[in-house]
Amino acid sequence: MPNETILSSRIVPVPEAGRVLVFDSGMGGLTVAREIMARAPGIAVDYAADTGFFPYGDKSDAALRERLPEIASRLVDAARPDVFVIACNTASTLALDQVRAALSIPVVGTVPAIKPAAAESQSGVIGLLATPGTIRRQYTADLIRDFASHVSVILHGSIELVRLAEAHAAGEPYDANGFAEAQRPLFEAEGGDQLDTIVLACTHFPLVRDQLAAAAPRPVRYIDSGAAIARQTLRVLFRQVDGRAATEMPGGRVFLSGPPADSERLVKVCRRFGFGTAIGLDDTANAENRSAHI
Ligand code: DGL
Repeated sequence: MPNETILSSRIVPVPEAGRVLVFDSGMGGLTVAREIMARAPGIAVDYAADTGFFPYGDKSDAALRERLPEIASRLVDAARPDVFVIACNTASTLALDQVRAALSIPVVGTVPAIKPAAAESQSGVIGLLATPGTIRRQYTADLIRDFASHVSVILHGSIELVRLAEAHAAGEPYDANGFAEAQRPLFEAEGGDQLDTIVLACTHFPLVRDQLAAAAPRPVRYIDSGAAIARQTLRVLFRQVDGRAATEMPGGRVFLSGPPADSERLVKVCRRFGFGTAIGLDDTANAENRSAHI
């Protein structure tokens, strides 16, 4: 008897079988993982962070293009998921096709929520808050051309906000002025006085949605794509594992490209989101598959 859950306002069967690997540079993908787990508690969800290459937002396109298919392949070899989710705008807007070409399982990407923001804005002015990498992508320009040509879009890239989000999630001290600073250019740009919607186009940013809202000069809507990615992941997973028996190994593992001992902060936050077993990718290459329970 399959579980039932609400998917896109319809009740649909959700497979109890199936493993999803949610991937990001750091903690941001946890905001997507939680949306998936909330919708389908019966499936196995593992997490992966490219801690050895964090952050992505200030890396060159060439470096990321080389890195992403390779790290995705190693992670899939280690975790053996049915579906791989790139829960990172910076990676997905650059190398979704290359990652798909490198893997033999379905890959779900992340698309900045420009389309719903443009459709829902009352004032006709929206902001896009992302990493500098996502801001300069052709993929982002194409989304704006295709879905937001009837509104004004103000863009701003912030790598500081990525770091601030990680510090906040880890409960570490940080400069709270950073939340006002990170979005100030959106409000101060030409037309920014009409801004009514901000797209959080980095999966780290929903971790600090409340802090951003409190620091904004006036109330605006913040939109992200976490729920849409979760719905798409479950659609793809359902097709992929239809009818298969439930996996014996539950989810809850977190794979790290660097040594787990160097990522205590991330491991601590992952644990809060339900990922308790940290495994360094280099460890999975060893015969005894040493895993660190932190
Ligand atoms: N979470 C990632 C994103 O959605 C980026 C963070 C980083 O710069 O590594 O864009």
